[in-house]
Amino acid sequence: MALQRQLLKKALGEAHPRWVHRHFQKLSFSGLSSSSSSSYEAPPLLPPFEYQPRTYNGPLADQVLQKRKTFLGPSLFHYYQKPLNIVEGKMQYLFDENGKRYLDAFAGIVTVSCGHCHPDVLNAITEQSKLLQHATTIYLHHAIADFAEALASKMPGNLKVVYFVNSGSEANELAMLMARLYSGNLGMISLRNAYHGGSSSTIGLTALRTWKYPIPEGEIHHVVNPDPYRGVFGYDAKLYAKDVQDHIDYGSSGNIAGFIAETIQGVGGTVELAPGYLKLVYDIVRKAGGVCIADEVQTGFGRTGSHYWGFETQGVIPDIVTMAKGIGNGLPLGAVVTTPEIASVLAQKIQFNTFGGNPVCSAGGLEVLRVLDKEKRQAHCNDVGSHLLERLRALQQGHEIIGDVRGRGLMVGVELVTDRKEKTPAKEEASVLFEKLRELGILLGKGGLHGNVFRIKPPMCFTKDDAGILLAAYTV
Ligand SMILES: Cc1ncc(COP(=O)(O)O)c(C=O)c1O
Repeated sequence: MALQRQLLKKALGEAHPRWVHRHFQKLSFSGLSSSSSSSYEAPPLLPPFEYQPRTYNGPLADQVLQKRKTFLGPSLFHYYQKPLNIVEGKMQYLFDENGKRYLDAFAGIVTVSCGHCHPDVLNAITEQSKLLQHATTIYLHHAIADFAEALASKMPGNLKVVYFVNSGSEANELAMLMARLYSGNLGMISLRNAYHGGSSSTIGLTALRTWKYPIPEGEIHHVVNPDPYRGVFGYDAKLYAKDVQDHIDYGSSGNIAGFIAETIQGVGGTVELAPGYLKLVYDIVRKAGGVCIADEVQTGFGRTGSHYWGFETQGVIPDIVTMAKGIGNGLPLGAVVTTPEIASVLAQKIQFNTFGGNPVCSAGGLEVLRVLDKEKRQAHCNDVGSHLLERLRALQQGHEIIGDVRGRGLMVGVELVTDRKEKTPAKEEASVLFEKLRELGILLGKGGLHGNVFRIKPPMCFTKDDAGILLAAYTV
């Protein structure tokens, strides 16, 4: 117990809130690891939160799992040995069937930006739903136009034309189509370790074997990943960029359709690109007749803290930007933004999407943009994220297993290794700790090819107190 208190103090520093100690002193170690029970009100370690979840009377985890197994595809996977039945959410917290509260540090896979069931977003969706849910773009409706205008106002340069779709995969499909039509070329370049979707075309851009089926992918080049931690060239952006040039020179006709990259790889384990990489590569790609696509599905809307868009951290302006997830705070919504010149190639045929920009999603999406501005979430991500990163780096000093701490804002990765020199992925250790954290009421994501990177990408309302509790839990 004394050791735990010591570790807790080390993790939180002197500025830890008093209630943490108060709660902590009341607990025994076995108490901390107790799993859900029906009388549970709130796990003792979490910060106080004025919200009472409703009593849940629906089907329980085992029944839901059984039904899923019977009626849903076998490719579905779930987190945790005993999967969680999450039935309610409020801001940065989730509640299971027993009313047990969890700190959500993964935001429905980096999707809940404003917070679970944010009242303003809920209100916008509800009010629009009462009036009109759907009519398609064959008629006029102000919601889609208002949302497009607001989104365009967030973009730099001449990125002013918006297409709405329903998901990140669809956005990347459309971006790839645009790149090919505009350039007149077929070849696409993406980074190894990238995730751009699981649809039959985007699966080709994705470069992680765990997510790929053996299907024809067309001409796709997967270049060496400019990963400062694991990459063969460390931080040397020039050497990584040369590999792009080599693929064009030796693997293509000399002309390509486009290049796509996440600025911080999400599914791949929160991997930042070597500084200066995109600038060099964008030049190379444009010289080869291609367009540059930024996949902002995870990095957009201020999550990285220092900038609204991830690509801005590399000082570039893409030709096409794709987005999804955080844009809708949970609504099925995606978008592609490009220049009028590139957009004009799609005017050759009808480009139609039944649900893209539907009034309910547009009203919700517009409100998401407003809430993020009103609540100054970008600055908040910067503040809380820097604090979290700093503390995680301090924690790393005393824990050999933490090989790398990386990221920006509230897009953080903690890579566990069994050997810091060899960087051997600590797969089993990560799994054990992952389960333990869940018992403590903390839900994280896992990423990287070996699943040994913890992904901390909470709703953007996540606080320093939440960060403190997460840090304390690591050391329990
Ligand atoms: C960077 C990135 N691009 C694209 C996608 C695909 O998005 P969706 O699952 O909405 O199709 C994802 C999903 O995780 C993603 O992380």
